[in-house]
Amino acid sequence: MERDLIIALDFKDRAEMEAFLENFQGEKPFLKVGMELFYSEGPGIIASLKEKGHRIFLDLKCHDIPNTVKRTMAVLANLGVDMVNLHAAGGIRMMEAAMEGLAEAATGERPLCIAVTQLTSISQEVLQEELLIERNLKETVLHYARNARKAGLDGVVCSPLEAGMLKDDIGQDFLTVTPGIRPEESNRDDQVRVTTPGVARELGSDFIVVGRPITRAEDPLAVYRQMKEEFTGRVSQ
Ligand code: C5P
Repeated sequence: MERDLIIALDFKDRAEMEAFLENFQGEKPFLKVGMELFYSEGPGIIASLKEKGHRIFLDLKCHDIPNTVKRTMAVLANLGVDMVNLHAAGGIRMMEAAMEGLAEAATGERPLCIAVTQLTSISQEVLQEELLIERNLKETVLHYARNARKAGLDGVVCSPLEAGMLKDDIGQDFLTVTPGIRPEESNRDDQVRVTTPGVARELGSDFIVVGRPITRAEDPLAVYRQMKEEFTGRVSQ
């Protein structure tokens, strides 16, 4: 799959989402559906977005025993999504089971499967004092990413600032899906470390995930086109 911008549909329900997508007549952006929208609207939301021709990253961050994750991934593959994710903290066997579930159920191309290593909301302090993980955050992220590779996953969600380091260690074909993107370094919302689409490209991101800079823009289509062009080098139709 070629480098692309994924819009995070962080909306509470279908009505809000549809009002936003009105801005994209004729354009079919790659979309991320997260827990809020999926749990409020159910799987029907995926079917209707697929019907309109969008590619979908279903961001449910699965984490359970291997058998449950395998069966869940089979259900998600049957929805026809293009990308799913899970927590690498579930262990290598859980990740392998996820891949088995996806491969067995996918009728067309198997959805890409991406691991969350450590959430960006986890600080060094929380890692050590609450979770009792003694290694530092960077080592933990790298180790969990290596586990994801061992289990056959396609890549990880990470900061663009970690993308190069992970690819150098694990392989250039290991996908990096990177949030924390802003058109300008100045407008951060609640993201601590932000990167522009152009810098994310230079650092080796394969997919950037962009929410509020597009969903809250006065002209979402214009911001989408500008950020996508900066990231991919391709001009939208
Ligand atoms: O609005 P914004 O561009 O900050 O949204 C980024 C999206 O990426 C949100 O859906 C957020 O949940 C998600 N995300 C993130 N940081 C991570 C993982 C996911 O911001 N480490």
